[in-house]
Amino acid sequence: MARKNVAAGNWKMNTTISQGIELAQTLTSAERDKNTLVILAVPFTHIFPLQKKIKASSKIQLAAQNCHHKTSGAYTGEISPAMLADMKVPYVVLGHSERREYNHEDNALLAAKLRAALDAGLKVIFCCGEALEIRKAGKHVGHVKTQLIESLFQLDAQEMKSIIIAYEPIWAIGTGETASPAQAQEMHAAIRNMLQKKYGKRVADNTSILYGGSVNGGNAKELFSQADVDGGLVGGASLKGQEFVQIINAF
Ligand code: PGA
Repeated sequence: MARKNVAAGNWKMNTTISQGIELAQTLTSAERDKNTLVILAVPFTHIFPLQKKIKASSKIQLAAQNCHHKTSGAYTGEISPAMLADMKVPYVVLGHSERREYNHEDNALLAAKLRAALDAGLKVIFCCGEALEIRKAGKHVGHVKTQLIESLFQLDAQEMKSIIIAYEPIWAIGTGETASPAQAQEMHAAIRNMLQKKYGKRVADNTSILYGGSVNGGNAKELFSQADVDGGLVGGASLKGQEFVQIINAF
């Protein structure tokens, strides 16, 4: 089993439902390589309407952008992994830097969320990445390693089949400043090496590692051509239908 190429859009807190449907329809109607997995991480409110509009044959999968770490209970305003599984949402994004920053999600909480998501049968796009000061200090690889050890590496090799990793340097998210292909490749190779040490070559070879941070129609091809970059987690450019189609076709 070779690892998949993945183009994942992260809509964040953007679009009305009708705008979201229009965007998804642009993607489903566009020509594209059927071997590329396309995932759209959409607001909770958009999941049900999009499920009704996106045909199974279009091979677009939906993701939630977060979930709670408990199955049910007195947690006003939260959505549980079991609720997402009940809706047949295949993926959830966990560990995005915006949630780490604005919602104070730390590695221990993310470990609990990963456990809960996997137990509910969800697949996870797990995000990691360093802030600018950490990169400037040359400690970016160690920082990402700690994020993986303290959250992701509690999973066993079998469970890693349900994981896509997204490396997103915080300084490149929404800034228009992209990591260079060489910077992305360095970190992706380091992550694959960590996977190999922890789980062996099979898991390392089969896990898709996405780059995120100002991916656009112009830079996707060069980023995705790096040996260990298996696709992208795309924010801003995923809100522009034609540009995201370009990214989907950049492999
Ligand atoms: P961006 O966002 O593409 O707008 O930089 C990426 C992300 O946050 O996943």
